[in-house]
Amino acid sequence: MAALKVAVVGLSGIGSRHCACYQQDPLASLVAVCDIAAEKADAVGSRLGVRAYHRLSDLLAAEPDLDLVDIATGGAENGSWHCAPVMEAIAAGRNVLVEKPLSNAIHEARAMVAAAEERGVYLACNLNHYFSPPAERARALIGDGSLGELRHCIMKMAFSGGEETYGGPSQDPRSAGLPYFHAKAFLTHPLSVMRHLCGDVTEVQAFFGRPWFRQRAGDVLLSQTSIHLRFSGGATGYLLSHRGDTPTGLGGWWSVEVGGTRGTIAIENCVERLTLWPARRPGGPAPVAEVYDSGLTDFEVTFGRRLHSLLEDIDARVPAHRLRGSGRDALAALEYTWAAIRSHERGGRLVRPHDAPAAR
Ligand SMILES: NC(=O)c1ccc[n+]([C@@H]2O[C@H](COP(=O)([O-])OP(=O)(O)OC[C@H]3O[C@@H](n4cnc5c(N)ncnc54)[C@H](O)[C@@H]3O)[C@@H](O)[C@H]2O)c1
Repeated sequence: MAALKVAVVGLSGIGSRHCACYQQDPLASLVAVCDIAAEKADAVGSRLGVRAYHRLSDLLAAEPDLDLVDIATGGAENGSWHCAPVMEAIAAGRNVLVEKPLSNAIHEARAMVAAAEERGVYLACNLNHYFSPPAERARALIGDGSLGELRHCIMKMAFSGGEETYGGPSQDPRSAGLPYFHAKAFLTHPLSVMRHLCGDVTEVQAFFGRPWFRQRAGDVLLSQTSIHLRFSGGATGYLLSHRGDTPTGLGGWWSVEVGGTRGTIAIENCVERLTLWPARRPGGPAPVAEVYDSGLTDFEVTFGRRLHSLLEDIDARVPAHRLRGSGRDALAALEYTWAAIRSHERGGRLVRPHDAPAAR
């Protein structure tokens, strides 16, 4: 099988990491890179031995047979520079992977998903947290009915920190003065994992806040997001996320517990461990917890695993609704984020998120 031709657009830390993943993946052939910062593009291009471009339009014109354009452009709230290049690549008929969040503006995210559907190309998002061995095992256990009816999902995804290590309000243009930076830039990860495991969310209630040391420094960042959810299947969910307000505790930097009527599972520290506690059967012995240790500790492995899964899906020409980590999945998580922001702004009122469009 011929390797799929890939170009990466946006070459800061994350774009460069994507390039390294493609160069190590036998399913991919990295043929070009692009950054509007010309020196950066040229340096990465010559380091990796691939063609370098400074404008996406030039890249798309000169590389007409790309199988995938990977867009890792970032910007304000880590998403303001995504929409224009994504739309341009879609209009050129290319499959696109975009980093999360789809955008820092919900109307742009909706437009990107609609444009890909209309043009008949794949739009995928880097929902890399789906692609850890424990998350894959969790999906399989839920899918084969091992947990029975799902009743609850409790998730915590947070950066370790505290008052001693706080360095003052952000001076980075991507986040400085933006109260919803953490919500918009980050919540796609935990909310998409919760949806991946438990299905669509129908109601959202949220309280956002910030600790005393941020308040005293005049830091506007709403660094703590506490969100209560109801899933369409009837389960309820809780997500706690924060950006360095307290040290990491139980479960490492992210953990999730999903409880069902036949069993409960928990993932600890993202890639590390999954435990299954089966329910006791009538007259049976006391059930023994099954522990699955992946042997991994570094979440970085999720990047290569995620990009490989997309290459497999493109190669297999899966129907759009079967694309793993799709733009539509990322849009649904962003709709929940917007619902949480609205709920916070209304003092914790219940909000029904806008439905993400059904995939054709
Ligand atoms: N999935 C994950 O686990 C994860 C982790 C961290 C960051 N991210 C995401 O990765 C993305 C990139 O983050 P970063 O910190 O590397 O980005 P950044 O904002 O530091 O840099 C973006 C780069 O894109 C270039 N660029 C901007 N617009 C462009 C355009 N139209 N054409 C070509 N180049 C353009 C800029 O010159 C810059 O070099 C963000 O969206 C962020 O949310 C994802």
